[in-house]
Order: sequence, then structure tokens, then C-alpha cells
Amino acid sequence: MRALGIDIGGSGIKGAPVDLEKGELAEERLRIPTPSPATPEAVAEVVGRIVEHFSWEGPVGITFPGVVLDGITMTAANMNQSWVGVDARGLFSEVTRQPVVVLNDADAAGLAEVAAGAGKGEAGVVLMLTFGTGIGSALFVDGRLVPNTELGHLELRGKDAEKRASDAAREDHDLSWEEWAERVEEYLRHVEMLFSPSLIIIGGGVSKKADKFLPRISIRTRIVPAALRNEAGIVGAAMAAADL
Ligand code: BGC
Repeated sequence: MRALGIDIGGSGIKGAPVDLEKGELAEERLRIPTPSPATPEAVAEVVGRIVEHFSWEGPVGITFPGVVLDGITMTAANMNQSWVGVDARGLFSEVTRQPVVVLNDADAAGLAEVAAGAGKGEAGVVLMLTFGTGIGSALFVDGRLVPNTELGHLELRGKDAEKRASDAAREDHDLSWEEWAERVEEYLRHVEMLFSPSLIIIGGGVSKKADKFLPRISIRTRIVPAALRNEAGIVGAAMAAADL
């Protein structure tokens, strides 16, 4: 079975049909730059174009980089503020005329990693953390997701953790890999103290460069890079849509 997965990010909106049994893209993905300003209407228009591009009819899973409760986008830390309180599921169903599920981007990436990637077959508490513009989190207990955990907004040195340790912070402050790894380690120790996970999966675009920073990080918990890399969001979104 297939479903269409769409991953909404700060710089790009990416989509592809996903083979749900294999947990991988069934066709080459389409990436369209995120419109600026990224208002709900402008983003919905892009989502509509992706659905059209694949002549897609069937379930569609869509990620959003904020808290999503029952199809409503509740926060938008790194997105246009006009998203707060929007019925995203309603909006996307209208433009696509397909059954739609909307979920947090890190939750989607985590679903894919736990089903078909680095967290496959792992029991107990598993935490996926994505490092990009922000820090996203997805918490699993015996393979079941606890949605909308928002651990990127834990406080670290009096600041939002993602402002210190996201990949964007690395770039903005011109940090060396070593300097950034130190910040990430401090953040991970805090998370580890709070949740005692048995495995931490590191995702987001920067997971492609895991060899540059993971060897510099030493914490108690086992820590591995995401297996599906940047495609986890698309795959997980499609998986979430499978039940529609
Ligand atoms: C948002 C999260 C999101 C993460 C990664 C954070 O700023 O609050 O909801 O998962 O960024 O995009």
C-alpha cells in the first residue's frame, strides 16, 4: 500500500508517494521552496501543487514544524505566526480534496525511524531528536508515540535549548563542530537526566554529517544517527496517513 507524505519545513516543502511496507519513497521526491511569507494559504497552495504533480488520489500525511492537536496547528516557533490556531487539516483537505492527517514534523520522522530505521525493534523509551532550524523531539514507549513533546524548548542556560544547540545555531554563531558538539552534549545530558531513554536517534539534515559531531559526544545513553536521514519526515507522514 502507498500513501503520499509531505514534509513542511522552513526552507522547503518536500513530498513523495511512500511504499508503506518497505518504509521508503516509491518515487523521486518533489521539493518546492517554502513560500515567503509562509502563510497558511501560501503553504496550502504548494501542498496542492505536490498532490497534483503526483496525480495523487488517496491518503495524504503532512508534517508541520509545531504542535498539532487534532489537525489544528497550535504553535509555530519557526514559522509564520499566522499558523497559530489554524485548522490545518481542514485547509489541506480542501486544497487536496483527499483525506489528510497533519502531525508534528519530528513525530513523523520518529514514526519512520521506529518502524523502519534506527529504532526498529527497540523496546522501552526511545527518543528521536531532529536538529535543523529548531530542535524537534519524538518520544516512544515500546514503539508507541507520545506526541508533541517539544523538547527543543527545554531551558538550557536560561535560554530555549534550540536557540543554543540547533543546527541553525551552529551556523548563525559560526561554531566549529567541536564547539557545537559541546552544546549538543550538554543538551543531551539534560534530556537524558529527565527521560532515561534506552536509545537516542539523531535526525534532521545535519544527521548526514553525524561523523563530524557524534564521535565527540559522550553520554550514558546509546546514540545513533537516523537511518532514513532527511526522508524520515516524508515516510513518517505517509505512515501516519495509512490509517485514513
Ligand atoms: C518546534 C517543534 C518542531 C521543531 C523542529 C520547534 O521549534 O516547536 O514543534 O518539531 O522545531 O522543526
